[in-house]
Amino acid sequence: MKDLPKKIRVMGEDLVLFRDGGGKTGLLALHCSHRGTSLEYGLVSERGIRCCYHGWLYDVDGKVLEIPGQPVTSTYQDRLYHPAYPTLGYKGMVFAYMGPRDKKPPFPIFDTFELPDYEIVPRKPNFLPCNWVQNKENQMDPIHLSFLHTIVSGAQFNEGFAAVPEMEWIPTPIGMAYIATRRVGENIWVRMADSIMPNIAQVPATTEDGTQAKIFGRPEATNWAVPISDTETMVFAFKRYRIVDGKRVDLSAPRPFDTRSSATRYDSGAPPSVFAAISCSFLMASLAAACAARVIA
Ligand code: FES
Ligand SMILES: [Fe+2]
Repeated sequence: MKDLPKKIRVMGEDLVLFRDGGGKTGLLALHCSHRGTSLEYGLVSERGIRCCYHGWLYDVDGKVLEIPGQPVTSTYQDRLYHPAYPTLGYKGMVFAYMGPRDKKPPFPIFDTFELPDYEIVPRKPNFLPCNWVQNKENQMDPIHLSFLHTIVSGAQFNEGFAAVPEMEWIPTPIGMAYIATRRVGENIWVRMADSIMPNIAQVPATTEDGTQAKIFGRPEATNWAVPISDTETMVFAFKRYRIVDGKRVDLSAPRPFDTRSSATRYDSGAPPSVFAAISCSFLMASLAAACAARVIA
C-alpha cells in the first residue's frame, strides 16, 4: 500500500483502504459522512484520511478528528462516527474483520503459517468473474486437474496429472480435505488439499509429478476467496517456500525422508477464520481494486 487511498468493494459494499502517516491501516466506508464525496480522493494524513471536499478528517477507526470551520466550542464531531472496519497486517497482507464488534475473535494463525524452515509471502491476487463459492468448489475438485488442465488443454502442470486419481474426501473439524492418490511406477503419489470454512483453501504443489520418493509436502499456497459481489471474486494467497540454507526452495524440490523436522501434526484446534485478506502490500501501487470480505460464519 502506497500513498494513495484505494477504492475497493467487498460483498457489494464500497470502501476505501489506506495507510496513514503513522503506519496504521484504515478501511472506511467510501463515501464521506458529510456530503458523500468519495474518500478515494482523500488526502492520506499523518493520522487518518481527510476528505478532499471540506476537509473532514477521519481516523482509521472512523472517529471524526476534525471538522474545519466548526466553532471551537462545537461538540458535533464527537457525536459522529464514520463506518470503519478493524484491520490487521500479517506477513505482508492486510486482513479485515467485518462482523459484529462484540464477536470479534482473535486473528487465527494456522500451523501452516508459522512452520519452521518455511516462509510465506503474498502472491498476486486473482480476479475471477464468478461467485466465491464456485472458487471454493473448484478447489475441492481435483478431477478437473486431469481433464481441464491436462487432457483437454495439454499439460499445464505436467503429464502426470492426466491420470485420474483415486479420490477420498474427509470432513475435518474446521472444513474438509481431499486426498488424491495415483500410482507412478513404484511410487504412490498422494496430493492433499484442505478447505477451511468459510473461504480458505490450502492446496498442494502443482510442480510435483510423483516420480521422486519424498516426504509429504506442506501446502504450496493458502488462499482466501474474497467476494466482491455475487458475480465477482478475488483470491488472495500466501505462497509457501521451504527455506534451505537461508534460501527459498520450491516445494517440489527433493525432501529426503530423514529431514522431516517440521512435520508436525495438523492442529485442528484453530477456529474457522472470520478474517479475510484484503490486500497484499506489494500490489497496492498498481492495483485499482483490492478486496476484503466479511466472511459468513
Ligand atoms: S463531503 Fe467530505 S468533508 Fe464535505
Ligand atoms: Fe483449476
